[in-house]
Amino acid sequence: MVDKIHSYKKYKEDYIESVENPEKFWGDIAEGFSWRKKWNTVFKHDKENAEVKWFEGGKLNITENCLDRHLEKNGNKTAIIWEPNNPDEESRYITYRQLYVKVSRFANVLKNNGIKKGDRVCLYMPMIPELTIAMLACARIGAVHSIVFAGFSSSALSSRINDSECKLLITANEVYRGTKPINLKAVCDEALEDSPSVEKVIVYRRTVEPTEMKEGRDVFWFDELQKIENFECDAEEMDAEDMLFILYTSGSTGKPKGMVHTTGGYMVGSTYTFQNVFQYEEDDVYWCTADIGWITGHSYIIYGPLAAGATTVMFEGVPSYPDYGRFWEIVEKLKVTHFYTAPTAIRALAKHPISLVEKYDLSSLKVLGSVGEPINEDAWHWYNDNIGKGTCPIVDTWWQTETGAIMISAMAGITPLRPTFATMPLPGVQPALMDENGKEILDSPAEGRLAMKAPWPSVARTIYGDHQRYKDTYFSAYEGMYFTGDGAYRDAMGNYRITGRVDDVVIVSGHNLGTAPIENAIDEHLDVVECAVVGFPHDVKGNALYAYVTKIDESVTSEDDLRKEINDLIRGSIGAIAKLDKIQFVSGLPKTRSGKIMRRILRKIASNDTSNLGDTSTLLNPEVVTEIMDNVIL
Ligand code: WT7
Repeated sequence: MVDKIHSYKKYKEDYIESVENPEKFWGDIAEGFSWRKKWNTVFKHDKENAEVKWFEGGKLNITENCLDRHLEKNGNKTAIIWEPNNPDEESRYITYRQLYVKVSRFANVLKNNGIKKGDRVCLYMPMIPELTIAMLACARIGAVHSIVFAGFSSSALSSRINDSECKLLITANEVYRGTKPINLKAVCDEALEDSPSVEKVIVYRRTVEPTEMKEGRDVFWFDELQKIENFECDAEEMDAEDMLFILYTSGSTGKPKGMVHTTGGYMVGSTYTFQNVFQYEEDDVYWCTADIGWITGHSYIIYGPLAAGATTVMFEGVPSYPDYGRFWEIVEKLKVTHFYTAPTAIRALAKHPISLVEKYDLSSLKVLGSVGEPINEDAWHWYNDNIGKGTCPIVDTWWQTETGAIMISAMAGITPLRPTFATMPLPGVQPALMDENGKEILDSPAEGRLAMKAPWPSVARTIYGDHQRYKDTYFSAYEGMYFTGDGAYRDAMGNYRITGRVDDVVIVSGHNLGTAPIENAIDEHLDVVECAVVGFPHDVKGNALYAYVTKIDESVTSEDDLRKEINDLIRGSIGAIAKLDKIQFVSGLPKTRSGKIMRRILRKIASNDTSNLGDTSTLLNPEVVTEIMDNVIL
C-alpha cells in the first residue's frame, strides 16, 4: 500500500502531479497492490470510440488483494462484523482468514455448478455475510457478479437478469427488515418465469421458514457447500481490463443501464479513495450503512475496505428498528470509528427525540461521511453537532455508480471542510463547469453543468451490451469530456457544491430513479392516457415523486382507486422505492408545438415555485397550466 495523503500541502502536490503526469501518479499507486504481472501501459484513451483502458496487460485477481495478501500479517484481524436486523441475534465476526476460506470454498461451489470465467451471476440477497462471500467467490473465479438490490420487484429483477443473460441466481429464502418478512425466493421464482437464461438457483436459508424449491433448478447453499472438500481455490488470473461486475443504474430514458466495471482500475480507484477520504487507521472500525445492492456498498463496504485491510461493518437491518436509536446503539456496541450514511437517513433520524442519540456513547467516532444526494444545511449541522459532537470531520462524498469511486470530497482531517459542499476534487479528478453553450466556465464563483475533463481509473468502461448508449449518455454532451448529469456550484476557493440532477433522473431517499420507466409503468393502466413524472423537494427523502396523469373519458374508476392501482403497477414493475407521493389528474399536459411535454413547468408547479414559470405562450395548450396550478396538490 502506498502511504495515505497526510497533509493539505501533500494533497495539493499530489493533485498537481495527478493532472500533469497521470501515468506516473497512478502507476505509483498501483505499485502498492499485488499483481501477478505488471501492466504494459498505465493509461490509454481512445476518445473517438470512448474507450478507456487502465493498467492494460496487468494480471491480477482482486480477491488476492482483498484476502490473500492480508493473511500473513492480518489473518486474525476481523474483516467483517455483521450486525443482524434483530438485536437479540448474535453479531458475527469474520476474520480475514475465515473469509478467505469461506470465499474459496464457495468459489468451488460455483465451479461445481458450472460457472466459469466471464459467466454472469446474479445476486439477489439480503445484507448477510453470504452476500459478500458470493460476490468475492465470483471474483475469485473470474465470474461477473450482477447484484440486484433486494428491494426491487420481480419484473425489475427479471429484466436485469435478461439484459446480462445471467446463468446462475443466488438468493436467500426470506429476510426480515425491521418486523417485516420479505420472501426473496418467491420474488425470484416469479422473475424466473421470464428469465430463461438462469439454469440454477442457489438458496441460502436465512430463516427456518419452509422454502419451495424447484426440482432440478434450485439447490440449497448449505447442501452445495457439503459437497466441497477443497477449502482452497486458486484465483483466476484476470487482465486489468477484464470485467469484474455489472451494476444497473437508472437512466433518464428507457431501460436501466448495466454499468460495467473492470478489475484493475476499479480496485485501485476504490481502495485509494477509501484510504484517503476516510483516513482509515489500523484497528479502526468502519461502518457504511448502504446496501451492497448499490455502488456505495460495492466500493465502500466491500472492495475498498477489504483491499485496504480494514474492519468493515455490514448491517442487515433498518435505522428504525427496534427504534430510531438503532444506529447509535451499534456505534456504541462495536466502537465504530467511521460512520458513512446518506442525508435521507440523517433527516429521518433528526425528526426523532434527541434522547435516542444521547442514550449512547458515541465517543469512538472519528470521521463521519455523507453520500447519495446533496446534504442540506440543517442535516449537516444536526449530524455535526449531535453525532460528531463538533469534533468529527464530515466528508461529503460526491460520486456515481458510473464513477466507481469517490470523485469530489474532503479528506478527513486533511483538507478544509465547507458545510453542504462536497469541496475539492480528489487527485486524478478534473471537474469542469459547463455553460448553456457547452463552453467551460473558467471563473469562480460560478454555476453550471458538471463534467470531467479526463478519465480516472475506476470509470465504468461501457454499458453492458450497448456501447453506443454509453457514448451517447456520457461522452457526447461535451467534446472529449464525461458528462455527469449533475449541476454544480463552485465557490471562489474552488469548492464544489452539487446542486442536483439536470436530467430526468430524480434522487429519492438517495436512490437514483429515472422518470421514464415510472411513466411507462403508469401508462400500463388501461384508464391512463398519458402522464408525466417529476421530482419535488421533500424534507426527509430529499425529493419525492409527483405524477400528472390524464385518464380516458370513460374511466369509471374512482380517483382514489386509480391512485392506488397506479402505485401498485409501479411497485410491480420497479419496486416500492419508486412509489408516487402525489398524483394529480389533469385534463392535459403542457406541451410544446412539437409535442414535447414541458417538464420544467411541471417541476416548478410540483415544487410550489410558480413565481417565474418562464414563457408559456409558446405552448400548444397554455390553458392547462392554469388548470394544473389551480388543482395542484401541496
Ligand atoms: C447521483 C449518483 C455513488 C453514490 C451513491 C449514489 C447524487 C451522490 C452526492 C453528494 C450531492 C450526490 C448525484 C449523482 N449524489 N452523492 N455527496 N452530493 N449529490 O449513486 O445511484 O449512481 O447516483 O447521486 O446526483 O449524480 P448513484
